Amino acid sequence: MGYPHKSHPRETPILSKHFGEPEARTLDGWKARGGYKALQQALHMEPTAITEIVKASGLRGRGGAGFPTGLKWSFMKLGDGKPHYLCCNADESEPGTFKDREIMRWTPHALIEGCAIAAHAIGAETAYIYIRGEFTEPIRVMEAALAEARAAGIIGKNAMGSGKRVDVWVHKGAGAYICGEETALMNSLEGKRGNPRIKPPFPAVSGLFGMPTTINNVETLAAVPHILNNGAEWYKAMCLSNPKSTGSKLYSVCGNVAKPGNYEVVMGFSFKEFLYDLCGGPLPGRKFKAIIPGGSSVPTMNMEEAEATLMDYEGFVAQGTMLGSGGVIIFDDAQSLPRQMARLARFYAHESCAQCTQCREGTAWMTKILERIVAGQGTYEDLDTIFDLSEMMTGKTICVLSDSCGAPVVSAIQKFRPEFEALIKGKRSSTVAVGAR
Ligand SMILES: Cc1cc2nc3c(=O)[nH]c(=O)nc-3n(C[C@H](O)[C@H](O)[C@H](O)COP(=O)(O)O)c2cc1C
Repeated sequence: MGYPHKSHPRETPILSKHFGEPEARTLDGWKARGGYKALQQALHMEPTAITEIVKASGLRGRGGAGFPTGLKWSFMKLGDGKPHYLCCNADESEPGTFKDREIMRWTPHALIEGCAIAAHAIGAETAYIYIRGEFTEPIRVMEAALAEARAAGIIGKNAMGSGKRVDVWVHKGAGAYICGEETALMNSLEGKRGNPRIKPPFPAVSGLFGMPTTINNVETLAAVPHILNNGAEWYKAMCLSNPKSTGSKLYSVCGNVAKPGNYEVVMGFSFKEFLYDLCGGPLPGRKFKAIIPGGSSVPTMNMEEAEATLMDYEGFVAQGTMLGSGGVIIFDDAQSLPRQMARLARFYAHESCAQCTQCREGTAWMTKILERIVAGQGTYEDLDTIFDLSEMMTGKTICVLSDSCGAPVVSAIQKFRPEFEALIKGKRSSTVAVGAR
């Protein structure tokens, strides 16, 4: 079975190079593609030397926040006599994001290798891959690959004959968005309710089971073997604009677009070329209207901003939004943005863990108000209330789920206010079918 989008000449398939190749899922197939060479090398290196290479590569976390990976690893105090843990965040619940799923489906050994290298670098003997429970196929593929790697002695008590213990286990989540937040993830792994923890203490000091822990995203960890195999300079050179953003990045593209799917491009790629050339532009007879580029938790862009964007951490910020998880959600001119925003707010209200009042009440009220506007029963004051609410919901809670609800909504109102006002003025409902306007 082929993988549709890895053939575009402007893509740089590194993580996605073997997507669509069933043999790459097997240990023999992975080894034939150069697999486990990086781990073999890493297990004979000093942990700090690995961290230095990752630091020098400029790799930043692909889970959303873009924190420098090597720096995060360096927070783990080696030789403190405590058990250390690595948690791989494979929850991937961010709306519009479906790239980690594909890494696990097609190249499970890349993730196992990345986990084992990272575990060694941070002084951990145990790594947990926390997978979203609904990912039945990736779970099956990961478990089969882990069994093969364990049987071959690649992971286990004496990993690759190095005398070092590195174990990797899969843990299934139960389908809660909040469990993708790193401290909620650790609570869930411990068998507790998945509520985020107050920080500090940060996970590197007190994480899983109260021990020093590093949490990294699937895509982040899958990039590590490539960096060790090819060197930090090779990775750093994949940069078309800002040197603070390096390497390749997988983007999941969904919504009203001709060719949805996963695309891997180097940092700094032109978003305009990406949207119109790689992704095939809008559907026939339609125009792009708005984009949420980083999973649903980041500000909405208009097309003027989108077409001026260079796709890296700084490039998206320069246009008032964020790269986030790289889940590009596209709305065309047949979509009602008020309706889409109401739907998003309902998602956040449903997924709030309800610990913080601002989030529990704010996401629920934002949903009610948006749904009222969409039903043709809104007032102009409602729009002001949404702005006030969003301010109360931002920067005041244990985690940023609450901030994430306001970000796309408020920016959509700022940039597409006439659409919201038309519903209020005309007292008309926006329940039209997609494509009917
Ligand atoms: C509500 C919420 C959900 C999140 N969901 C995910 C997720 O599904 N996957 C992920 O990697 N990071 C997610 N994050 C970010 C993680 O907390 C954490 O920053 C990330 O896993 C760190 O890995 P990285 O440094 O490799 O990016 C989420 C954060 C929040 C606040």
